Parts: sequence; structure tokens; C-alpha cells
Amino acid sequence: MPNILEIVQPDDWHIHFREGDMLEMVTNYSSRINNRCVAMPNTKVPITDSNKAILYKNKINKASKDKFEPLIPCYLTESLDINDFRSGIQNKYFFGAKLYPSNATTNSKYGVRQISNIYNLFEILEEENSTLLIHGEKVSDKIDIFDREKYFIDDELQIIRKKFPLLKIVLEHVSTAYGVKYIKQNKNIAGTITPHHMLLTKRDVFISDKIDPHHFCMPVVKDESDLIELRNAACFDNTKFFLGTDSAPHPIEEKKSNANSKPGIFSAPCSIELYTQIFDQENALNNLEVFSSINGANFYNFSHNDKKIKLEKKDWIVPEFSVYKNIKVKNFYANKKINWKVIN
Ligand code: NCD
Ligand code: ZN
Repeated sequence: MPNILEIVQPDDWHIHFREGDMLEMVTNYSSRINNRCVAMPNTKVPITDSNKAILYKNKINKASKDKFEPLIPCYLTESLDINDFRSGIQNKYFFGAKLYPSNATTNSKYGVRQISNIYNLFEILEEENSTLLIHGEKVSDKIDIFDREKYFIDDELQIIRKKFPLLKIVLEHVSTAYGVKYIKQNKNIAGTITPHHMLLTKRDVFISDKIDPHHFCMPVVKDESDLIELRNAACFDNTKFFLGTDSAPHPIEEKKSNANSKPGIFSAPCSIELYTQIFDQENALNNLEVFSSINGANFYNFSHNDKKIKLEKKDWIVPEFSVYKNIKVKNFYANKKINWKVIN
């Protein structure tokens, strides 16, 4: 295999930019690699109307150095202004819409409690040939945290798909073999896969008598058998799965080793390199480009990016922290060696 790999410039179909200084830091990392990024709308005040989406897009644009396109889904709630929602979708102020089941993850308290209450919004998405992006976890006291994805698929997604068969759906950060199988077997549904779900299992989070807060994310990482199926889907089942890092930074003070640690893994400083290393380990480097730069664009009916990026096979160590102004975030894969690096 050659030491230099050239691929069409990637897009990141699921990433968290946050706001303020954090937004500037994350945009800087992401806009150097990607052409487009789906900027998740779970900001402290969530992006629930087109005005907020336009402002948020402008903020990210202002912070980005290169040509770069942030795409902002509407954060779905049970009390959206329907006219604004429709026109936001029609005018492409919104890049589809994101369903967060209430209390499933960071800043999801305004999310949806009863999915049938927003069927009118799904109808609009279906009519407009737009996309529903889903955080696919069912939250209930009766459901084990590791089973949330399966229960969401069985109890919620099946019904949504039956009622809206033409609605395009992305099951975000799919985390289980069960989810992978569901996506493969059904029409109009695709999935994004993160690097961390292909690198970690629950043993990396729950370590004897402690929890590693920097490996804690939603959906939580699962078993070895899930990890293997995710790797197979990303590396070899190359039409329905695409790159979505779910890079989700939290300042270190919000990642303390206690029960209040916020879920989210910050991989932006090394995500494309991690994907490349994973594809290399699986002897699938030839399939990297289709996963990172083609499948997502095809699913969303976008053209492929014109530019290319180059990666070189050489070892480097991921720095422990990203520091910018007053912000300090622990990087995923901190102090570990990666054997591919983007070169400019
Ligand atoms: C994300 C965040 O912090 O915003 N956290 C995470 O663990 N992935 C939200 C999300 O995508 O679930
Ligand atoms: Zn996310």
C-alpha cells in the first residue's frame, strides 16, 4: 500500500460546534478537513426556528478559515411554529430536522416526549423530500442504558417508518449490531458511524471501580460484537453508512469523574486520521473515500466535493488537550499514537 493516500475531501454529517470560543476552536479543526458539516442544533438555547439557524450558520461561517458549509438541522420540539418550520425547510435554512428524545443526551431536555405529537412535522419533511435525523435511543426507567437503541428501533422507528414510508431517515451514530442490521434491511434509511464506536467497548468506560468520563458518550459504546459489526458496515457495506464523527466537546470542568459528567467525546483534532487508521487495520483503505466523502453526499443529493485531501502514513501522538482562549478540552485518543496524518 502506498504511503500517501489521496481522497475526495470529506464531509462530517454529525458534529457539535457549540458556541462562543468553543465554536471558534471546533470550526477551526473541522473546516481544515471537511467541506460540509452538519452542525447539531443542541446548543444551550436550541436551534428551533429559522432565524436562529441563519444566525448560527453565520457564526460558524465567520469562524471558518476556508470555504466551508455548515448545515443546520432544526431541533424538533412539540411546540414549533409550523409555518416557520415549513418555510425554513423549503428555503433550506434548515438542513432537515433532528429528533432528540427528551433527556436522551446533552441539551435534550427540550426534546420530544411523545413522538406522535410531531407527526405533522414529519409529514412536512416527507412532502419536502427533506431528512429526519434521529438520536435513536428510547429513554425510560425500565430500559437498560445499553438497550436504548434497540428499544427505539422496535418501539418508535418501526412506527415512524410505517406511517412515513417515503421519509428519508438517518439513524445517527448507530452503536449496535442490531441498528446496523436494521439499516441494511430497510429502505430510505442510512446511518452515520463515529470513530469512537469503532474503537471502544463498554470496558473502556466502566473500568473496575471507576468510570472514564472521557469515554462516556451517548449512545454509550457497547460490546465487542457491536464494534465488529460497525467496522464491517463502515469498511465493507459501502452505500448506507457514512462519516459522522459526533465530535462533542465539553470543557474539562464538565467532564469530572462523577455522576454529573456530561456525555460527549471530542475527536475533531484527529477524527479523519482515526477513520483512516481503522480502515487500514481492516485492509479496506480503498473503501475509505466512499465512506468519508461519497455515500453521505449521495444520500443527501449533494454533489461530490471537488477538492482532495492527502494523508500520509506516519506516526504522530495526539496531544492530551485542545486549548483555545479560556477553553480546555481533553482530546479523544489523548497521548496515543495514530499512524496516519493529514498533510496540506
Ligand atoms: C452530544 C453532545 O454532547 O452534544 N453528546 C454525545 O455524547 N454524543 C449529543 C449527542 O449527539 O448525543
Ligand atoms: Zn451528537
